[in-house]
Amino acid sequence: MPTNESEKARWNDDRWTDAWPDRERLTNSVSPYLLAALGLEAGERVLDIGCGGGGQSITAAQAVGATGAVVGVDVSEALAALARRRATEVGAANVTFVVSDAQVQTIDGAPFDVAMSQFGVMFFDEPVKAFSNLRAPRLLAAGGAQPVAYGRDHGAVRRPPPPLAPGKSAVGPFSLGDEAHTTALLESVGFTDVGAAAHDLVIDVPASAIFSDNSYAVLGVEPASVPAASVAMQHHLEQFAVGEDLYKVPLAFYIFHAVNP
Ligand SMILES: C[S@@+](CC[C@H](N)C(=O)[O-])C[C@H]1O[C@@H](n2cnc3c(N)ncnc32)[C@H](O)[C@@H]1O
Repeated sequence: MPTNESEKARWNDDRWTDAWPDRERLTNSVSPYLLAALGLEAGERVLDIGCGGGGQSITAAQAVGATGAVVGVDVSEALAALARRRATEVGAANVTFVVSDAQVQTIDGAPFDVAMSQFGVMFFDEPVKAFSNLRAPRLLAAGGAQPVAYGRDHGAVRRPPPPLAPGKSAVGPFSLGDEAHTTALLESVGFTDVGAAAHDLVIDVPASAIFSDNSYAVLGVEPASVPAASVAMQHHLEQFAVGEDLYKVPLAFYIFHAVNP
């Protein structure tokens, strides 16, 4: 059965990936919490799952130093290329980026001491298989919800998702947003000492950190419904507006940690 087909298409679609540096204004606010919780040590070998543009991989590479190494894995060719450019710009020689499906493929550089992810592990359509594939001695992942990202009003103009094929799970930013469900998932594949810390932030971002006009097509809004979707999005964002193109938005997420015994 093919894996993660629609996610691979989305994360290799220029209409989506071109907007990613803007979106990082939102997601990067989580990075200090994730890196602090990781407590990386010099010499460790780290896997960054769904590394996107590589920002956290590069920060992790600085933390583990020249005797350590970081491998960022992602299904997106464009984001891996962006990550490589960024690593070159800052002279990070101990980080490499590979294009691969972390759900099913063995990542060159394994075994790792630590696996980490910032919003990169909620897109697996067979999460049990994926987390079985990713059992490093320590796993730490930021997952959960970005409540502001897509207003509920949007539901009316989005194409309904196709029914799930047998054995497949729903994917998306909220797929690991239930603490009990995600804890049970990690324990079911053999992780121990599973725990989660809930965080609630309020961050200041421009609208481009949340959505762009191209998002509608990629998210399944029919062309004829884009004007209505745009009105719904503006309406949803108004409650967070604090200035000219400035929004104070809530960002709720969990940081999960688990040990591979
Ligand atoms: C929300 S983005 C997060 C990117 C980055 N960690 C950040 O916080 O900016 C999710 C990332 O997961 C990647 N991804 C989705 N499914 C994946 C899979 N099966 N294997 C590897 N990467 C995947 C996407 O290409 C995307 O870059």
